[in-house]
Amino acid sequence: MPPKLQSILPALYLLGVLTLLLCPSGLCDCRIPPGIAHGSHHDISSFLSFTTVVHYECDEGYVLVGDPQITCRSSQWSSAAPQCKALCLKPEVENGKLSEDKDLFVESENVTIRCDSGYGVVNSQNITCSANRTWYPEVPKCEWEVHNGCEQVVEGSKLMQCLPSPTDVKMALEVYKLSLEIKRLKQEDQPKDLY
Ligand SMILES: *[C@@H]1O[C@H](CO)[C@@H](O)[C@H](O)[C@H]1NC(C)=O
Ligand SMILES: *[C@@H]1O[C@H](CO)[C@@H](O)[C@H](O)[C@H]1NC(C)=O
Ligand SMILES: *[C@@H]1O[C@H](CO)[C@@H](O)[C@H](O)[C@H]1NC(C)=O
Repeated sequence: MPPKLQSILPALYLLGVLTLLLCPSGLCDCRIPPGIAHGSHHDISSFLSFTTVVHYECDEGYVLVGDPQITCRSSQWSSAAPQCKALCLKPEVENGKLSEDKDLFVESENVTIRCDSGYGVVNSQNITCSANRTWYPEVPKCEWEVHNGCEQVVEGSKLMQCLPSPTDVKMALEVYKLSLEIKRLKQEDQPKDLY
């Protein structure tokens, strides 16, 4: 061995040890970065760097939760990959109010719908923003509730829905009008009988 090489051997050893300690990406890289649903990732490591850095991004309509960047250290990723959570638009409910009034909700957030007085909720009062960016179960409606004294109208309209044709409805209405007329006439007659 030439004496010159002998003198640089310790330096070479040191370099070897340092190389293993620093783990350049070519020698001891992490496994491929984990993929995520509704998002993508790309390598943003600088050209000369010893470490691999991966940056995550979410698709439109999704929000990133967690650290957007993970780094490869000693063959392991610095942390778990972030998540892309769905965003749901504020549910529009006529004649009702939301338990929380904001324009966007994040996946798995719950909202309670409270109908204005006189209105009743149809379907589930509580809904959850789901992974597919829709509300689950479907957004409820607030419908005018029937109060005392309105039953007859509702019964009447139900009856009409049961009648097969518009002519039948017309006839039923005529009969109903006649019955009212007769009732009125009878009432008018009664006081006269008293005299
Ligand atoms: C929403 O409600 C569901 C079930 O009712 C529950 O499991 C979940 O933790 C709630 N989400 C939040 C963010 O509170
Ligand atoms: C809706 O959620 C609220 C608050 O979490 C709860 O108090 C209520 O019982 C829920 N209503 C129904 C119908 O599940
Ligand atoms: C969205 O997800 C819910 C469950 O979380 C499911 O019931 C519903 O069918 C899904 N809607 C669409 C359009 O995929």
